[in-house]
Amino acid sequence: MDLGIVGKTALVAGGSAGLGGASARALAREGVDLFVSARGGDRLEAAAAAIRAETGSKVTAIVADHGSKEGRQRLFDACPAPDILVITFSPPPLTDDYRKVTADQWRAVFDMAVVGSTELMRHYLQGMADRGFGRIVNISTIAAKYPLAARMLSGASRAAVGNYATGLSKLLARHNVAVNSLLPGIFETPGLTGTFTDAASANGTSEAEEREKFLRRFNIPARRYGDPDEIGALCAMLCSRHAGYVVGQSLGVDGGLGGALF
Ligand SMILES: NC(=O)c1ccc[n+]([C@@H]2O[C@H](COP(=O)([O-])OP(=O)(O)OC[C@H]3O[C@@H](n4cnc5c(N)ncnc54)[C@H](OP(=O)(O)O)[C@@H]3O)[C@@H](O)[C@H]2O)c1
Repeated sequence: MDLGIVGKTALVAGGSAGLGGASARALAREGVDLFVSARGGDRLEAAAAAIRAETGSKVTAIVADHGSKEGRQRLFDACPAPDILVITFSPPPLTDDYRKVTADQWRAVFDMAVVGSTELMRHYLQGMADRGFGRIVNISTIAAKYPLAARMLSGASRAAVGNYATGLSKLLARHNVAVNSLLPGIFETPGLTGTFTDAASANGTSEAEEREKFLRRFNIPARRYGDPDEIGALCAMLCSRHAGYVVGQSLGVDGGLGGALF
Protein backbone atom coordinates (compact mmCIF):
# COMPACT_ATOMS: atom_id res chain seq x y z
CA MET A 1 0.00 0.00 0.00
CA ASP A 2 1.24 3.51 -0.78
CA LEU A 3 1.21 5.38 2.55
CA GLY A 4 1.15 8.70 0.71
CA ILE A 5 3.97 10.37 2.66
CA VAL A 6 6.77 10.50 0.07
CA GLY A 7 8.63 13.80 0.52
CA LYS A 8 7.09 14.58 3.91
CA THR A 9 9.48 15.56 6.70
CA ALA A 10 9.62 13.36 9.81
CA LEU A 11 11.38 13.88 13.13
CA VAL A 12 11.93 10.77 15.22
CA ALA A 13 13.04 11.98 18.65
CA GLY A 14 14.89 9.06 20.24
CA GLY A 15 15.51 7.09 17.06
CA SER A 16 19.00 5.58 17.11
CA ALA A 17 17.85 2.20 18.49
CA GLY A 18 14.93 0.14 19.69
CA LEU A 19 11.36 1.06 18.85
CA GLY A 20 12.30 4.59 17.75
CA GLY A 21 15.02 3.17 15.50
CA ALA A 22 12.52 0.78 13.91
CA SER A 23 10.04 3.65 13.41
CA ALA A 24 12.74 5.78 11.76
CA ARG A 25 13.61 2.93 9.38
CA ALA A 26 9.96 2.28 8.52
CA LEU A 27 9.32 5.97 7.76
CA ALA A 28 12.47 6.25 5.63
CA ARG A 29 11.31 3.20 3.65
CA GLU A 30 8.18 5.23 2.83
CA GLY A 31 10.28 8.02 1.30
CA VAL A 32 10.18 10.70 4.01
CA ASP A 33 13.03 13.12 4.64
CA LEU A 34 14.13 11.98 8.06
CA PHE A 35 15.51 13.85 11.06
CA VAL A 36 16.52 11.49 13.84
CA SER A 37 17.86 12.34 17.27
CA ALA A 38 19.44 10.68 20.30
CA ARG A 39 21.87 11.59 23.07
CA GLY A 40 24.71 9.31 21.96
CA GLY A 41 26.36 10.50 18.74
CA ASP A 42 28.18 7.33 17.64
CA ARG A 43 25.17 5.01 17.70
CA LEU A 44 23.04 7.74 16.12
CA GLU A 45 25.49 8.33 13.23
CA ALA A 46 25.70 4.58 12.64
CA ALA A 47 21.90 4.24 12.61
CA ALA A 48 21.52 7.22 10.26
CA ALA A 49 24.16 5.81 7.89
CA ALA A 50 22.44 2.40 7.86
CA ILE A 51 19.05 3.96 7.04
CA ARG A 52 20.58 6.09 4.26
CA ALA A 53 22.30 3.05 2.79
CA GLU A 54 19.15 0.92 2.92
CA THR A 55 16.56 3.44 1.75
CA GLY A 56 18.39 6.22 -0.11
CA SER A 57 16.37 8.69 1.96
CA LYS A 58 17.78 11.97 3.22
CA VAL A 59 18.62 11.41 6.90
CA THR A 60 19.85 14.16 9.25
CA ALA A 61 21.22 13.12 12.64
CA ILE A 62 20.82 15.51 15.60
CA VAL A 63 22.58 14.83 18.88
CA ALA A 64 20.12 16.12 21.49
CA ASP A 65 18.58 15.08 24.80
CA HIS A 66 14.92 15.99 24.38
CA GLY A 67 14.46 15.68 28.14
CA SER A 68 16.28 19.03 28.43
CA LYS A 69 15.26 22.48 27.25
CA GLU A 70 18.58 22.93 25.42
CA GLY A 71 18.20 19.58 23.69
CA ARG A 72 14.68 20.41 22.53
CA GLN A 73 15.90 23.77 21.20
CA ARG A 74 18.53 21.92 19.17
CA LEU A 75 15.72 19.88 17.59
CA PHE A 76 13.62 22.99 16.90
CA ASP A 77 16.59 24.72 15.21
CA ALA A 78 17.59 21.71 13.10
CA CYS A 79 14.06 20.62 12.16
CA PRO A 80 11.69 23.60 12.32
CA ALA A 81 8.68 22.21 10.47
CA PRO A 82 8.20 18.43 10.51
CA ASP A 83 5.00 16.94 9.11
CA ILE A 84 5.46 13.86 11.26
CA LEU A 85 6.73 13.62 14.83
CA VAL A 86 7.51 10.37 16.64
CA ILE A 87 8.49 10.65 20.31
CA THR A 88 10.30 8.03 22.34
CA PHE A 89 13.11 7.64 24.89
CA SER A 90 14.65 4.90 27.02
CA PRO A 91 12.35 3.05 29.40
CA PRO A 92 12.08 4.58 32.89
CA PRO A 93 13.53 2.33 35.62
CA LEU A 94 11.57 -0.64 36.92
CA THR A 95 10.09 -0.18 40.38
CA ASP A 96 10.36 -3.57 42.06
CA ASP A 97 9.78 -2.07 45.51
CA TYR A 98 7.45 0.95 45.65
CA ARG A 99 8.93 1.91 49.03
CA LYS A 100 12.22 2.72 47.32
CA VAL A 101 10.80 5.03 44.65
CA THR A 102 11.97 8.56 45.43
CA ALA A 103 10.60 12.02 44.70
CA ASP A 104 13.74 12.70 42.64
CA GLN A 105 13.00 9.67 40.46
CA TRP A 106 9.45 10.88 39.87
CA ARG A 107 10.75 14.35 38.92
CA ALA A 108 13.38 12.96 36.55
CA VAL A 109 10.87 10.68 34.80
CA PHE A 110 8.23 13.40 34.54
CA ASP A 111 10.81 15.85 33.15
CA MET A 112 11.69 13.37 30.42
CA ALA A 113 8.39 11.68 29.69
CA VAL A 114 5.78 14.36 30.39
CA VAL A 115 7.56 17.69 30.01
CA GLY A 116 9.80 16.42 27.18
CA SER A 117 6.96 14.89 25.16
CA THR A 118 4.40 17.65 25.71
CA GLU A 119 6.90 20.43 24.94
CA LEU A 120 7.79 18.78 21.62
CA MET A 121 4.11 18.46 20.73
CA ARG A 122 3.30 22.00 21.88
CA HIS A 123 6.09 23.43 19.73
CA TYR A 124 5.24 21.62 16.52
CA LEU A 125 1.44 21.29 16.52
CA GLN A 126 0.48 24.78 15.38
CA GLY A 127 2.70 24.55 12.27
CA MET A 128 1.17 21.19 11.39
CA ALA A 129 -2.33 22.64 11.78
CA ASP A 130 -1.44 25.67 9.62
CA ARG A 131 -0.07 23.41 6.88
CA GLY A 132 -3.13 21.14 7.02
CA PHE A 133 -1.22 17.92 7.68
CA GLY A 134 0.33 16.48 10.80
CA ARG A 135 0.90 13.09 12.38
CA ILE A 136 2.22 12.56 15.88
CA VAL A 137 2.90 9.16 17.41
CA ASN A 138 3.94 8.76 21.03
CA ILE A 139 5.62 5.45 21.69
CA SER A 140 4.13 4.78 25.09
CA THR A 141 3.73 1.54 27.03
CA ILE A 142 1.01 -1.01 27.68
CA ALA A 143 1.62 -0.23 31.39
CA ALA A 144 -0.11 3.13 30.79
CA LYS A 145 -3.36 1.20 30.30
CA TYR A 146 -2.74 -1.81 32.56
CA PRO A 147 -0.89 -0.52 35.63
CA LEU A 148 1.77 -2.71 37.23
CA ALA A 149 3.60 -1.92 40.46
CA ALA A 150 6.90 -2.70 38.77
CA ARG A 151 6.18 -0.19 36.01
CA MET A 152 4.69 2.69 38.00
CA LEU A 153 7.22 5.30 36.81
CA SER A 154 6.76 4.25 33.22
CA GLY A 155 2.99 3.69 33.24
CA ALA A 156 1.87 6.70 35.27
CA SER A 157 4.01 9.18 33.32
CA ARG A 158 2.81 7.87 29.96
CA ALA A 159 -0.82 7.79 31.09
CA ALA A 160 -0.40 11.54 31.64
CA VAL A 161 1.06 12.02 28.14
CA GLY A 162 -1.74 9.94 26.62
CA ASN A 163 -4.34 12.05 28.40
CA TYR A 164 -2.73 15.25 27.03
CA ALA A 165 -2.42 13.79 23.52
CA THR A 166 -6.01 12.58 23.31
CA GLY A 167 -7.36 15.85 24.68
CA LEU A 168 -5.38 17.84 22.13
CA SER A 169 -6.20 15.54 19.24
CA LYS A 170 -9.85 16.66 19.43
CA LEU A 171 -8.79 20.26 18.82
CA LEU A 172 -6.52 19.35 15.95
CA ALA A 173 -8.41 16.69 13.99
CA ARG A 174 -10.19 19.36 11.92
CA HIS A 175 -6.78 20.45 10.61
CA ASN A 176 -5.87 16.91 9.50
CA VAL A 177 -3.51 16.57 12.43
CA ALA A 178 -3.73 13.16 14.11
CA VAL A 179 -2.15 12.51 17.50
CA ASN A 180 -2.03 8.88 18.61
CA SER A 181 -0.09 6.53 20.87
CA LEU A 182 1.27 3.03 20.46
CA LEU A 183 1.32 0.95 23.64
CA PRO A 184 4.01 -1.71 23.23
CA GLY A 185 4.04 -4.87 25.29
CA ILE A 186 7.47 -6.51 25.49
CA PHE A 187 9.83 -6.04 22.54
CA GLU A 188 13.38 -7.19 21.84
CA THR A 189 15.25 -3.90 22.00
CA PRO A 190 18.55 -2.79 23.57
CA GLY A 191 16.44 -1.41 26.46
CA LEU A 192 14.99 -4.87 27.15
CA THR A 193 18.33 -6.64 26.68
CA GLY A 194 19.78 -4.26 29.28
CA THR A 195 17.10 -5.45 31.73
CA PHE A 196 18.20 -9.08 31.18
CA THR A 197 21.86 -8.18 31.58
CA ASP A 198 21.19 -6.31 34.83
CA ALA A 199 19.01 -9.13 36.20
CA ALA A 200 21.62 -11.73 35.23
CA SER A 201 24.38 -9.91 37.10
CA ALA A 202 22.09 -9.31 40.12
CA ASN A 203 20.92 -12.96 40.25
CA GLY A 204 24.14 -14.71 39.19
CA THR A 205 22.39 -16.18 36.14
CA SER A 206 22.91 -15.88 32.38
CA GLU A 207 21.22 -13.39 30.07
CA ALA A 208 19.52 -16.31 28.26
CA GLU A 209 18.07 -17.62 31.54
CA GLU A 210 16.69 -14.19 32.44
CA ARG A 211 15.24 -13.88 28.93
CA GLU A 212 13.29 -17.15 29.39
CA LYS A 213 12.30 -16.34 32.98
CA PHE A 214 10.85 -13.02 31.90
CA LEU A 215 8.90 -14.66 29.07
CA ARG A 216 7.38 -17.22 31.48
CA ARG A 217 6.62 -14.56 34.11
CA PHE A 218 4.60 -12.44 31.69
CA ASN A 219 2.90 -15.39 29.96
CA ILE A 220 2.51 -13.57 26.64
CA PRO A 221 -0.25 -15.22 24.55
CA ALA A 222 1.88 -14.88 21.36
CA ARG A 223 4.65 -16.83 23.21
CA ARG A 224 7.38 -14.49 21.99
CA TYR A 225 8.72 -11.01 22.39
CA GLY A 226 7.70 -8.42 19.83
CA ASP A 227 9.93 -7.50 16.90
CA PRO A 228 10.66 -3.72 16.85
CA ASP A 229 9.88 -3.69 13.12
CA GLU A 230 6.29 -4.56 14.05
CA ILE A 231 6.08 -1.25 15.94
CA GLY A 232 7.89 0.54 13.12
CA ALA A 233 5.37 -0.62 10.52
CA LEU A 234 2.37 0.39 12.65
CA CYS A 235 3.97 3.71 13.43
CA ALA A 236 4.44 4.40 9.70
CA MET A 237 0.78 3.47 9.13
CA LEU A 238 -0.36 5.93 11.83
CA CYS A 239 1.81 8.57 10.14
CA SER A 240 0.32 7.86 6.73
CA ARG A 241 -2.08 9.91 4.65
CA HIS A 242 -4.74 7.27 5.46
CA ALA A 243 -4.68 7.80 9.24
CA GLY A 244 -6.29 11.25 9.46
CA TYR A 245 -9.47 9.79 10.93
CA VAL A 246 -7.64 7.93 13.73
CA VAL A 247 -7.92 10.53 16.45
CA GLY A 248 -6.43 10.31 19.95
CA GLN A 249 -6.19 6.53 20.07
CA SER A 250 -3.92 4.40 22.23
CA LEU A 251 -3.28 1.14 20.40
CA GLY A 252 -1.96 -1.87 22.32
CA VAL A 253 0.69 -3.87 20.43
CA ASP A 254 1.44 -6.55 22.97
CA GLY A 255 1.04 -10.11 21.65
CA GLY A 256 -2.21 -10.39 23.60
CA LEU A 257 -0.74 -9.42 26.96
CA GLY A 258 -3.40 -6.83 27.76
CA GLY A 259 -6.25 -8.77 26.24
CA ALA A 260 -8.73 -5.89 26.12
CA LEU A 261 -11.77 -6.04 23.85
CA PHE A 262 -11.48 -2.29 23.06
N1 LIG B 1 11.22 -2.38 24.56
C1 LIG B 1 10.08 -2.74 25.12
O1 LIG B 1 9.79 -3.92 25.29
C2 LIG B 1 9.08 -1.70 25.54
C3 LIG B 1 7.88 -2.11 26.09
C4 LIG B 1 6.94 -1.17 26.48
C5 LIG B 1 7.23 0.16 26.34
N2 LIG B 1 8.42 0.53 25.80
C6 LIG B 1 8.66 1.95 25.71
O2 LIG B 1 9.14 2.28 24.44
C7 LIG B 1 10.10 3.32 24.55
C8 LIG B 1 11.35 2.92 23.78
O3 LIG B 1 11.90 1.75 24.37
P1 LIG B 1 13.14 1.02 23.70
O4 LIG B 1 13.19 -0.32 24.32
O5 LIG B 1 13.06 1.17 22.23
O6 LIG B 1 14.35 1.92 24.28
P2 LIG B 1 15.88 1.89 23.85
O7 LIG B 1 16.23 0.62 23.17
O8 LIG B 1 16.63 2.29 25.08
O9 LIG B 1 15.99 3.05 22.76
C9 LIG B 1 15.72 4.37 23.12
C10 LIG B 1 16.15 5.29 21.99
O10 LIG B 1 15.88 6.64 22.38
C11 LIG B 1 17.12 7.36 22.55
N3 LIG B 1 16.94 8.17 23.75
C12 LIG B 1 16.75 7.74 25.01
N4 LIG B 1 16.58 8.78 25.84
C13 LIG B 1 16.69 9.90 25.07
C14 LIG B 1 16.64 11.29 25.35
N5 LIG B 1 16.44 11.73 26.60
N6 LIG B 1 16.79 12.16 24.34
C15 LIG B 1 17.01 11.71 23.08
N7 LIG B 1 17.06 10.42 22.75
C16 LIG B 1 16.91 9.52 23.75
C17 LIG B 1 18.19 6.29 22.69
O11 LIG B 1 19.48 6.74 22.28
P3 LIG B 1 20.47 7.40 23.35
O12 LIG B 1 20.51 6.46 24.52
O13 LIG B 1 21.78 7.52 22.64
O14 LIG B 1 19.90 8.72 23.70
C18 LIG B 1 17.64 5.25 21.72
O15 LIG B 1 17.87 5.65 20.40
C19 LIG B 1 10.37 3.51 26.05
O16 LIG B 1 9.79 4.70 26.46
C20 LIG B 1 9.76 2.32 26.69
O17 LIG B 1 9.23 2.60 27.98
C21 LIG B 1 9.35 -0.36 25.39
